[in-house]
Amino acid sequence: MTGPSGIVSVIHPRGFFLFNPSPPSPVEQELDTIQRDALTEIEGLSGESALEEFRVRYLGKKGRLTVAGAGMKDLSAEQRPLVGKKLNEVRVAITSALESRQEALVAARDAEVVTGIDPTLPGTPSFVGTRHPVSQILDRAIRTLRRLGFALAQGPEIETEWHCFDALNTPADHPARNESDTFYFEDGRLLRTHTSSVQIRTMETTPPPVRIIAPGSAFRRDEIDATHLSAFNQIEGLYVAETVTLADLKGTLEYFLKATFGDSTDVRFRPHFFPFTEPSFEVDLSMNGKWIEIAGCGMVDPAVFEAVSKVRGDDAFHPDKVTGFAFGLGLDRLAMIQWGITDIRHLIENDARFLRQFA
Ligand code: DAH
Repeated sequence: MTGPSGIVSVIHPRGFFLFNPSPPSPVEQELDTIQRDALTEIEGLSGESALEEFRVRYLGKKGRLTVAGAGMKDLSAEQRPLVGKKLNEVRVAITSALESRQEALVAARDAEVVTGIDPTLPGTPSFVGTRHPVSQILDRAIRTLRRLGFALAQGPEIETEWHCFDALNTPADHPARNESDTFYFEDGRLLRTHTSSVQIRTMETTPPPVRIIAPGSAFRRDEIDATHLSAFNQIEGLYVAETVTLADLKGTLEYFLKATFGDSTDVRFRPHFFPFTEPSFEVDLSMNGKWIEIAGCGMVDPAVFEAVSKVRGDDAFHPDKVTGFAFGLGLDRLAMIQWGITDIRHLIENDARFLRQFA
């Protein structure tokens, strides 16, 4: 029987044999030698660079196997596919020997790393962080106020005097504008002393109705003590539409504070003065029989609408067309009330023993 390419298959008493009747060509002999050399050599190799050097020497572009393969062009058309097949087999044999050697070396290295380690010993527990108390209060505040239809807004921490003071009806001689109270840059800009500047930023770009909250940091040149930091956190609120009333303001803040501190919390509005609201109030919470001040608020002063209208160049916020309320809450203060924290400095010390209590 003659099969393809001159291979003769013979039925032999012990089975079914295939053999190639012609003697192996010099290329085939060379391939056998290469395979034998490679498989012997690789057993003695350790280390990545030795293996890489081996790979290049046998399998690389100028490697022994490639060079031997080049000899195929001198073979007859009959021999070429047979030798090609062998070439491939040798390549596979060397490649897989190389791979298993690499795996064995990695396994040996891994085994070395764990020698001497007792896996039955208890591990060192790693502490997964917790939300900072101020972040927790902020998350809660945002959730509640979003339910009431407030959207998030933000503005820069480095502000112009105009956004921080003038547009908020705060005259040049107001004590808050004093160099001893406010961090000024040489170019006249400043670190915002409150988040109220975001009210102006928002109205500059967004026509009414506007209903936003703006959480963020504020900065004052205060002496640092148990109740004051020079960088602290506020949340600003602003609602401007055709007919916003004082009742809306009180209802919103009462709902928000009861949702945050519990239904039994009492809320009190005390008349006060802020340049940018008229009338203005301070808001107190009752805690263990004591009233604690936590926010300022009021009805947006028409002078603020006028300042905004001037830069907008339209009458979208004309004081005859819209009314609004605004409020500003101290977030650090809220966190202190919530957890009975007596010193505000704990909030910025990053002491894990303190922070992990709020898990
Ligand atoms: N900006 C004031 C402060 O930092 C708080 C405040 C009071 C904000 C009244 C307001 C407001 O929006 O209407 O002390």
